[in-house]
Amino acid sequence: MLSSIALPLLALASTAFAAAGDGDWTVAYAKATTALAKLTQANKISLVTGTGWEKGPCVGNTASISTIGYPALCLQDGPLGVRYAQQVTAFPAGITVGSTWDTSLLYERGYALGSESKALGIHVQLGPVGGPLGKIPAAGRNWEGFSNDPYLSGVAMASTINGMQAAGVQACAKHLIGNEQEKERDTINSVIDDRVNHELYLWPFAESVKANVTSVMCSYNKFGGSWACESEALLTSLLKNELDFQGYVLSDWAAQHTTAGSANAGLDMAMPGDNFGDNNFLWGTALQNAVSSGQVAQSRLNDMAKRILAAWYFVGQDVDYPTVIGWTSWNGGYGGPDVQSDHKNVARSVARDGIVLLKNTNNALPLKNPASLAIIGQDAIVNPAGPNACTDRSCDIGTLAMGWGSGTADFPYLIAPLDAIKTQAALDGTAIITSTTDTAASGASAASSAATAIVFINADSGEGYITVEGAAGDRLNLDPWHNGNALVTAVANVGKPTIVVIHSVGPLILETIVALPSVVAIVWAGLPGQESGNALVDVLYGSTSPSGKLPYTIAKTTGDYGTAFQSGQDNYAEDLYIDYRHFDKSAITPRYEFGFGLSYTTFSYSALTISALSTSPGSSATIPGGISNLYDVVATATATITNNGTVAGSEVSQLYIGLPSSAPTSPVRQLRGFSKLALAVGQKKTATFAIRRKDLSYWDVTAKKWTLPSGSFKISVGASSRDLRLTGTLS
Ligand SMILES: *[C@@H]1O[C@H](CO)[C@@H](O)[C@H](O)[C@H]1NC(C)=O
Ligand SMILES: *[C@@H]1O[C@H](CO)[C@@H](O)[C@H](O)[C@H]1NC(C)=O
Repeated sequence: MLSSIALPLLALASTAFAAAGDGDWTVAYAKATTALAKLTQANKISLVTGTGWEKGPCVGNTASISTIGYPALCLQDGPLGVRYAQQVTAFPAGITVGSTWDTSLLYERGYALGSESKALGIHVQLGPVGGPLGKIPAAGRNWEGFSNDPYLSGVAMASTINGMQAAGVQACAKHLIGNEQEKERDTINSVIDDRVNHELYLWPFAESVKANVTSVMCSYNKFGGSWACESEALLTSLLKNELDFQGYVLSDWAAQHTTAGSANAGLDMAMPGDNFGDNNFLWGTALQNAVSSGQVAQSRLNDMAKRILAAWYFVGQDVDYPTVIGWTSWNGGYGGPDVQSDHKNVARSVARDGIVLLKNTNNALPLKNPASLAIIGQDAIVNPAGPNACTDRSCDIGTLAMGWGSGTADFPYLIAPLDAIKTQAALDGTAIITSTTDTAASGASAASSAATAIVFINADSGEGYITVEGAAGDRLNLDPWHNGNALVTAVANVGKPTIVVIHSVGPLILETIVALPSVVAIVWAGLPGQESGNALVDVLYGSTSPSGKLPYTIAKTTGDYGTAFQSGQDNYAEDLYIDYRHFDKSAITPRYEFGFGLSYTTFSYSALTISALSTSPGSSATIPGGISNLYDVVATATATITNNGTVAGSEVSQLYIGLPSSAPTSPVRQLRGFSKLALAVGQKKTATFAIRRKDLSYWDVTAKKWTLPSGSFKISVGASSRDLRLTGTLS
């Protein structure tokens, strides 16, 4: 099994992960320029225009160009595994790897994802997800991303992209930008203040560009009145000019609306080419005509082509890259090679280390050879019709291990909680009583015949093209599905110690459950992928202490979040104040705060050190990610973390900053560093937080630049956003 190697956050700022190819844009562009000179106009058009929906083995395809050895490009979903393929790994979803706060695991999962794609001949894997960021807790696709905190999301994007591209596949940071809800996603106009955009929504994409992501997908919605895939302000001014993005922008599937408008705004590749098989191509011949007539400059077409070629060279796909052989997306994905290797170990490690222990009264967990256990709820078993019975996981039957939509993969197998618990119970001689429906009465009956009850509940969501149990992507509320509160209440009222395990796409209101005296433990198991049960048993029985922390806030009531679905136009009126930034500003006490999670051991924090703020101006050159000096480490903080409990465990310590009063009104505190350290009993280690200029700056809307405010910064280091153990100042 993989050990959790503690990789200090320093890595983000200072360690360059080599891409598989040259990993050098200058070299890649030199090759692209040479190749471009050999292309006909028709070649260039085919390079930038998808062949049309289902016209090729992958969800997106372009034609090959033999004169330069360029392949039929294969673009494939998705962010947690290869969609429409068999014998691939179904990894935990983004939100669960986000809750590990473990940059090594993020990288390893990215590397494994990329390796599987490469082995299948896929050139571009459509992930990871930095938008939706998740400002609305019930939004359908939040689980595809990592966290609604831009810093955590940004680190996760960069680590994942580094892993994917080191394995040889082109990563695709998506969806740029303002696709924060499934409701009206094809029409809604997202109007985002420039500061809010830079400090929240654009941040994970800036970190992706800094990590040399080779492609970016623009979203379906409008951005400031223009379609996101036709917004010059977004694609050219922000992404390509300000962030110096070197790769290419591809459209979300059929998110393109015009021929010249999209080209002139900065779109580089039209996907899937036509509008889902209508054979109506906005580029192709139409683009060729637009260039001939001067509506689109030849230089713009050349730039599109060069960007696509440079990305291909950058990751080394011009040398010995596999081709798609034997499988197609349109036959269930059968016939390809088995590409799983030993990736189930990464999947299990992520699922295990992403589990967040929310409550554990009197050390009810870990389980210690219980005489009998009642396992209750449909979420404990695999869907009796099979884990892949519902297309794109479009049902909530059986244990929940991923949401629904295009961001799914077929399970090669799914270890349900009950399967893994039975294996452990056989070793321990524990009697297992089951009630694998969500019926309250039978759950209570099972609980009455056992010493301890474990109740499984869940909440699902997904992409809006599928409606599940009345939810058109977005959730209808923040309650557990299938009357989960009633099931837990009935079981707890039997009076046995009751452990609640929750698989969820995002926050739930847990007040009913928390108030039940018999509920001694709450285990937040996220969306764990194929190794669900094994990872859960690792934690329930204590072979590993839980070490996940919430990547979002769990509120006491839905209204506490201060965000809501909008219609027509969304003005992002919540400003900078989403999730914990809002709870802090409005002094609302959450049930479980951002960054919270218990362990089976305890940690003490001591010896905070904070360096002086560097006065070196650094380089003002523009590099991928923006102005170079934004990414300079300008201060370092350290703290000593000691395992002062009785078992081994890992602690995620978190650094929050508060801007000085010279800055415009800003959040009370913002996450700007974290460190996950594995600690034996009695062991202490130093958590090191490398603070970059950007981490201390605000976006000045008048000057249109990041500005480092003068004065002293508040620094807090703690076990969550509200359990701040050490404080100091930086100046
Ligand atoms: C991005 O690519 C440049 C070369 O063009 C390289 O110097 C830099 O280290 C890379 N950054 C990362 C994070 O890999
Ligand atoms: C461990 O440290 C924490 C935080 O300082 C403290 O509250 C707790 O009492 C300590 N535990 C032990 C066993 O010393």
